[in-house]
Amino acid sequence: MKTLSVDLGERSYPIYIGSALLAQPHLLTDHIRGDETLIVSNETVAPLYLEQVQRLLRDAGKRVDTIVLPDGEQFKTLDTVNGIFQTLLEKRHSRKTTLIALGGGVVGDMTGFAAACYQRGVNFIQIPTTLLAQVDSSVGGKTGVNHPLGKNMIGAFYQPRAVLADVGFLKTLPDREYSAGVAEVIKYGLISDPAFYEWLDGNLSSLMAKEREAVIYAVEMSCLNKARIVSADEREAGKRAILNLGHTFGHAIETAQGYQGLLHGEAVAVGMLLAAELSHRMGYLNESEVAGLRDLLRRARLPVAVPAEMTPDLFMHHMALDKKVSEGVVRLILLKSIGSAFVSADYDKGLLSETLVAACTRPA
Ligand code: NAD
Ligand code: GLY
Repeated sequence: MKTLSVDLGERSYPIYIGSALLAQPHLLTDHIRGDETLIVSNETVAPLYLEQVQRLLRDAGKRVDTIVLPDGEQFKTLDTVNGIFQTLLEKRHSRKTTLIALGGGVVGDMTGFAAACYQRGVNFIQIPTTLLAQVDSSVGGKTGVNHPLGKNMIGAFYQPRAVLADVGFLKTLPDREYSAGVAEVIKYGLISDPAFYEWLDGNLSSLMAKEREAVIYAVEMSCLNKARIVSADEREAGKRAILNLGHTFGHAIETAQGYQGLLHGEAVAVGMLLAAELSHRMGYLNESEVAGLRDLLRRARLPVAVPAEMTPDLFMHHMALDKKVSEGVVRLILLKSIGSAFVSADYDKGLLSETLVAACTRPA
């Protein structure tokens, strides 16, 4: 097992990475201060793993309540979070309760948000069960829900007490969801770790075959990069924004599709390629680096084409609602080189338009 740390002073917390982590109950119970717990899961994950977590907590003498949410990004809403509050209140949970997110990023984001709000803040722990959640959403404390007018627009920065990333959960994860997680893994190489990007290029087949060593290494390197960036800029005053490479384009696609088209990681893959193409037009990346990224995404079985229903105007409409918009200007994450990203507000708007027109008219 590897243990990493997100260093945030007295709110620092460990990320445990490995397999069969629940065979070491203290990894979970050490971070529960009272006796009350509420496990939040969903209708897909609960039949697979809920009983195991319930048993562990009961064996440790905890009171265990459970809420099983409907499955899907379209349920990442205030209404669903209200259901969590309802359960907490009906079961009379106090300020000493601990919420435990057992699921992917959707469950994790909503559980964290509920924990941030319930009685003005209670503890929560992340047990991420998708690759995407293990490498990204469970770490760093971004919590929240979607709004019909924009993705992740309602939320709070609120850190978990611990993250248990057990790669054993990934055995039951559908291949398409696994690939969506690989998109975020590739992101870390692109934004801040050229050596990891090179490793991914050379070892992608092992990662796609879910070879345990490769998966653990990829989760570890991803969490290491994310923890470093979050520790330096928890509330995204500056550098943390680079974690959103491809997300402004990707969120526009997700919102335009009503959160029922491309998966988040797939939309991010398309968005990262658009960011790379714009970076190339601006004279940063060369053509072979963009082609190399397209090939890597394809090998990860990720989409590289913009969905047919997207137009440059639709992109611009949804991108104007991005959280990184400042004083009316959409800020984008661009690549200076492979492994080095930067936030830009003064990119050439004509080149952005050219990039979108080219991508929206290119045959899939
Ligand atoms: P998800 O939570 O929808 O999970 C994907 C699917 O896999 C779901 O159907 C889920 O039920 C199923 N599943 C989960 N674990 C499984 C397992 N072990 N076996 C079988 N099926 C399993 O999607 P996701 O990709 O994990 O997360 C996407 C969400 O995360 C988006 O809402 C995105 O906005 C958010 N996100 C948040 C952050 C952050 O920093 N908070 C970062 C990235 C993404
Ligand atoms: N996924 C972006 C962030 O955590 O900042």
